Amino acid sequence: MVKMNKTFALLGASKTGIALAHYLEKAGLEPAFLWNRSLKGIQLARKYIQFRKESADLSQIPADVEWIIIAVKDDVIEVVVQQLLGVLKNGDGKKVFHTSGAWDSKLLEPLQKKGYRTGSFHPLISIPDIETGIRIIPGSVFSCEGIIQDDLLDLTRLIGVTGIALNSEQKETVHLGAVFVNNYVTVMIQALKQFARAKGISDDTLKRLLERLSGQAFDNAWKKSLKDSLSGPAVRGDEKTIQKHRDLLENSPELKKLYDQFLALTLRLLVEEKKL
Ligand SMILES: NC(=O)c1ccc[n+]([C@@H]2O[C@H](COP(=O)([O-])OP(=O)(O)OC[C@H]3O[C@@H](n4cnc5c(N)ncnc54)[C@H](OP(=O)(O)O)[C@@H]3O)[C@@H](O)[C@H]2O)c1
Repeated sequence: MVKMNKTFALLGASKTGIALAHYLEKAGLEPAFLWNRSLKGIQLARKYIQFRKESADLSQIPADVEWIIIAVKDDVIEVVVQQLLGVLKNGDGKKVFHTSGAWDSKLLEPLQKKGYRTGSFHPLISIPDIETGIRIIPGSVFSCEGIIQDDLLDLTRLIGVTGIALNSEQKETVHLGAVFVNNYVTVMIQALKQFARAKGISDDTLKRLLERLSGQAFDNAWKKSLKDSLSGPAVRGDEKTIQKHRDLLENSPELKKLYDQFLALTLRLLVEEKKL
């Protein structure tokens, strides 16, 4: 891996921030400063990475760091930006990015006006804890957006991951997709486990029965058209089966609504595909 004699500050000892910092250090960037609201987060971070300086006081940020990474929870990024404005001098082209997927570099505009070059750098993975983050970052894909898009793409090469350049609108779209394919598929599986439990089917039994089918759906859906990847009552037009499912869901109004919405979406997409 190419070594890069640069320094970085991490603002937010979050799961994402620490996992990313681990790879930046491995790639030769110096972990110069860690700021976190609570000391607990700073102590936890020490298990994974030794920063030259750590503080719960943002005004302690060294003036000479070349990269500033804001990795706090989304709703607080603007707050941290405002705090930074109070403690930082002119940016002199130094690079600042955040790791949110839902938001773009516009959140950092006040810093841009102060001479910083800004961007957003989002790993398209789910990081439930730091260890998992460190384990799954290799081989992952990061979206790179903002004025420093090219620098961020360089960073992905440096840490050995894939970078894809996106504009703001594309980034928003991809994040929405990520919420559907990860968060809501997860919720759907949990809801189905709950539904099956009430009928005396254990989580493990349901997993044994449905896991392969769910894997097939993911395999096929990314590669083929809807018509070529879908089986089941909607595509066959088995009305009685569909009504039986809807009856089964009588006491599960949210799942029933989802079932109906999926059915409507399926039929519309199939009609549209036919026209192509
Ligand atoms: N987790 C993921 O799957 C994932 C994936 C890709 C991108 N991201 C992005 O990465 C960023 C961090 O997410 P995460 O899930 O890694 O976060 P996290 O582990 O839950 O950590 C949240 C961080 O935000 C700080 N924070 C919360 N409220 C604050 C406040 N009022 N003032 C100052 N700091 C505050 C916390 O500080 P304390 O320690 O003091 O509470 C902590 O450092 C987010 O922008 C997220 O969208 C997350």
